[in-house]
Amino acid sequence: MIIVTSNRGKYREYKEIIGKHFNLKLMLMRYPEEQLDTIEKVAERSVYYLSGTINDDFFIDDSGLFIEALRGFPGVYSSYVNKTLGNEGILRLMEGTSNRKAEFRTCIAYYDGKLNLFTGKARGTISDAARGENGFGFDPIFIPVGQELTYAEMTLEKKNSLSHRYRAGKAFLKFLTKKAI
Ligand code: IMP
Repeated sequence: MIIVTSNRGKYREYKEIIGKHFNLKLMLMRYPEEQLDTIEKVAERSVYYLSGTINDDFFIDDSGLFIEALRGFPGVYSSYVNKTLGNEGILRLMEGTSNRKAEFRTCIAYYDGKLNLFTGKARGTISDAARGENGFGFDPIFIPVGQELTYAEMTLEKKNSLSHRYRAGKAFLKFLTKKAI
């Protein structure tokens, strides 16, 4: 089983979620991500692009942060916004905003000759300041519902017990386990 990603942070998480049960190999590479209106469509398009070049089963992960007060922004633009505005830019956009609700979404797109999609969501809030050193991307500004710590203040095990990626991974794992029987 191959994971195709340029993000070592995602790989680190999947090593625990999937790699404990299936032999997981990292193919560290970038691939084109078209700007479509849902992460599922983005993931689907990327898989079809990659399926022509990889001769094995593989999956990718397309994720995004959807902030309610910003009408779902950055959503499918999360990668670009993370690189350009960064966490400080998001916090500035949210200054004076009392509705801090947000949702992280992950879509796993697995290709085994056919396309299979698995999604996971985690609701939460945007913190007032960036906190924590762990993880990657928007982890320092996202507090999952029912928690006080941001993802970046949590251990990998803790994030992996409640994250959007964990939830998508759980559905994927169930599928893989059924397939292996
Ligand atoms: P991608 O398009 O799936 O690679 O991710 C979109 C953006 O969201 C990138 O900037 C990632 O760093 C960020 N991102 C994806 N997953 C997470 C996560 O679990 N925590 C924090 N940021 C994430």
